[in-house]
Amino acid sequence: MIIAVDGPTASGKGTIAKALAQHFCLPHLDTGMLYRAVGQQVALNGGDPDSEADSLAACAFPDSLLVDPDLRSEVSGGLASRVSVHPRVRQALYDRQRMFATQPGGAVLDGRDIGTVIAPEAEVKLFIIASVAARAERRFLEMQRTGREVTLAEITTDLEARDLRDATRSAAPLIQAEGAIVIDTSLLSPSEAIARAISFVDLLTGNTG
Ligand code: C5P
Repeated sequence: MIIAVDGPTASGKGTIAKALAQHFCLPHLDTGMLYRAVGQQVALNGGDPDSEADSLAACAFPDSLLVDPDLRSEVSGGLASRVSVHPRVRQALYDRQRMFATQPGGAVLDGRDIGTVIAPEAEVKLFIIASVAARAERRFLEMQRTGREVTLAEITTDLEARDLRDATRSAAPLIQAEGAIVIDTSLLSPSEAIARAISFVDLLTGNTG
C-alpha cells in the first residue's frame, strides 16, 4: 500500500506520515529532507539556489547530509523551497523517491507532489492543510524548543513566501491530488489529526480493524 501525504510546511503532514508509517508498519520517507539537503549543499558549494545549474550540481549531496540537524532550520527550508522550483532538480530526485514509493510492501511518503507526480497510483492520498496562523505558531514553538532565535512575524512572512513559491512554480506545484482527502489540522491536536488519518486509511482500504 502506498500512502501519499502532501501539504504545505508545518501543516502536520510529517507528524501524520510518521504515525501512519508506524501504525501500518510501512517505511517512511520525508521528501522535504531531499530538497533541504540540495539547498544545504548549494550553500556549502558557495552556489546560488536560484541557479538551476548550481542546484543540479548539489543533487549529488552525500547521504550523511540527510542527518544534519541544520536541515530542520528555517534557513534550510527557505533554500529548499528555492532549489525545488527547478525542473531538473525535481527530475534528479524523482528516481530515488519513486523507488522508495514502489518498494515491495508499500511505503508512506510525505511532501508536495507525492500524490500528483511521484506516486499518482497511491491507494491513499491525503492533503493536509492548516491556517497560516496555526502553522506559524507551531513552527515558532518548535524553533523555541530547539533554541533557534526567530520571531513569529519572521516565521509568518517566511511561510507565506514559501507557500506562494510552492503553489505557483510551474514544475509540480503544490496542489491537491485528484481523489485526495483533505484534513484541516488547524484546530486538531497531533493525536486527533493522526487518529483521523488512520481512520481514513482504514476506510479507504476496507480495513475494519
Ligand atoms: O516539507 P519541507 O518544509 O521540509 O520542504 C521544504 C521545501 O522543499 C518546501 O518548501 C518545498 O518547496 C520543497 N519540497 C518540494 N517537493 C517535495 C517536498 C518538499 O518541492 N516533495
